[in-house]
Amino acid sequence: MAALGVFDTANLNSGQKLAMKYFAVALPLFGAQILFGLLAGLQYLIPDFLFQVLDFSVNRTVHLNAMIVWMLYGFIGGVYWMLEDEAQHPVVGLWLGKLIFWILTIAVAIVVLVYLLIQIGPAEMSTIWFIMEGREYIEAPRWADIGIVVSVLVFFFNVAATFSKGRYTGIGGVLVLDLLALFGIYLAGMFYTPNISVDQFWWWWVIHLWVEATWEVLVGCIMAYMLIQTLGVRRKIVETWLYIEVALMFGSGILGLGHHYFWIGTPQYWLTIGGFFSALEPIPLVAMVVHAVFDSGVHKLRNSNHPALAWTIGQAAGNFFGAGVWGFMHTLPQINLYTHGTQWTASHGHLAFFGAYSTAVIAFFYLAAQKSRGNVWMSGNIVGGWKWKWSMAFLWIGMIGMTMALLIAGYEQSQIERAVGGSTWMAYFEAQSHPWFMQAMTWRQISGYIFGLGYILLVWDLLTIGKRETRSVSELHAEQPQPA
Ligand code: HEM
Ligand code: HEM
Ligand SMILES: [Fe+2]
Repeated sequence: MAALGVFDTANLNSGQKLAMKYFAVALPLFGAQILFGLLAGLQYLIPDFLFQVLDFSVNRTVHLNAMIVWMLYGFIGGVYWMLEDEAQHPVVGLWLGKLIFWILTIAVAIVVLVYLLIQIGPAEMSTIWFIMEGREYIEAPRWADIGIVVSVLVFFFNVAATFSKGRYTGIGGVLVLDLLALFGIYLAGMFYTPNISVDQFWWWWVIHLWVEATWEVLVGCIMAYMLIQTLGVRRKIVETWLYIEVALMFGSGILGLGHHYFWIGTPQYWLTIGGFFSALEPIPLVAMVVHAVFDSGVHKLRNSNHPALAWTIGQAAGNFFGAGVWGFMHTLPQINLYTHGTQWTASHGHLAFFGAYSTAVIAFFYLAAQKSRGNVWMSGNIVGGWKWKWSMAFLWIGMIGMTMALLIAGYEQSQIERAVGGSTWMAYFEAQSHPWFMQAMTWRQISGYIFGLGYILLVWDLLTIGKRETRSVSELHAEQPQPA
């Protein structure tokens, strides 16, 4: 054991060492997401900014792909982090996992460079294979798709084999089945059809069934582990909640897919199916809030890692508001007719991705920071504790500011473009140049800078938290025995 406060990977088990590599790539990619978001936002205000050098379409692609990749890296890191603890067995096939980390990371770097330097290609198969596929969020070219599939198969093998050789907990069982679904679905976004309706039909299998089914369950698993770690909640309670949430999530989320099939040329019955099932989707999200608040209450918020628990509670709340409330607002076809594809959607997209997923990964960053520094004290009165609090405040204020600004812009578009203007091409431009819209875009940008500031503080904090700490986490347990 290294001394308290000293950053040393010797404090970690081998799965956790590999997790640190994934976290170390995730954090700068989060920064890249913000940078390219700010550039794209600026282009709403100064339309010819970087015109034909780094167009809006390129910035947007990099913004979104950086987001997906850093979150996936965060999740993969989270799973490797908990794997040996949960399975009570060293990671099976670790060398293969390490090798794949490097291959995947080099592939990501090449894909980003191609996005930035080559940008577009002729509309031919060669473009799909080597430059980009053009499907929003999963633009990666096909060679990279195949690489991703191979990498995740190795990751899946590591996880499933470790649980099989060690022990299968409830969390482990749900996780393995969920990963199978998560990666199976990715295949639906890999083939090309010339019919845009058919193409979109399958594309949503990846996008919707990821964020509203399989990612939610994955995050449910890693946050269940997080609650056991930070609060010392009894496994039986956490796993019972997990089963209920998973059943509700899949029960509503799978057919909730229909809320993307309202206007893309799919049969009309999707209006009913999508409206009904997606309206039920907030229910498991409410269950998650109740679960986190209940556990924290029972344990009187006495926990071994304040920043991680704060981000965990933030996750439950952010998921509920971003996905549950902001999603529900526009999920009925009668409403979606007016809001579809406006900034209303972007408002929901930002709050949901940040609220449900960024928060979870940040909580894991803090768990990792604690153990890397020899299990230092991270409860009340952390030395330099202002940093995590201010970074959290700036990130949330920035995100809520962006969400509200986009909501106002979306509301204005629904009124001027759709309700009054009748969705004509003219009305589209009229809405986009309306003073309310422009002001909202300015506020989004200002909020974006605040968010960026929060990120800088976050990085600084993660690199320094616990450095000058002399107390060990075990003092908390010695001082106050944890209730069951
Ligand atoms: C964490 C979970 C969720 C995330 C990350 C998320 C994210 C997103 C994103 C990014 C989009 C825009 C997709 C595009 O580019 O067209 C979107 C669309 C949509 N989401 Fe969600 N969402 C989540 C959960 C939900 C839930 C629970 C509901 C309903 C209760 C919902 C309802 C919708 C609807 C109706 C649309 C289509 C908007 C339109 O017509 O333009 N979402 N979501
Ligand atoms: C500095 C902060 C940020 C700024 C200025 C920013 C700006 C933007 C801009 C300009 C777009 C393109 C919108 C359009 O096509 O009209 C966008 C899309 C998007 N951003 Fe951000 N962003 C920021 C941070 C984030 C964060 C932290 C997340 C999630 C964790 C996020 C998630 C998304 C999503 C999901 C979309 C697609 C929305 C849709 O298609 O409806 N962004 N962002
Ligand atoms: Fe959806």
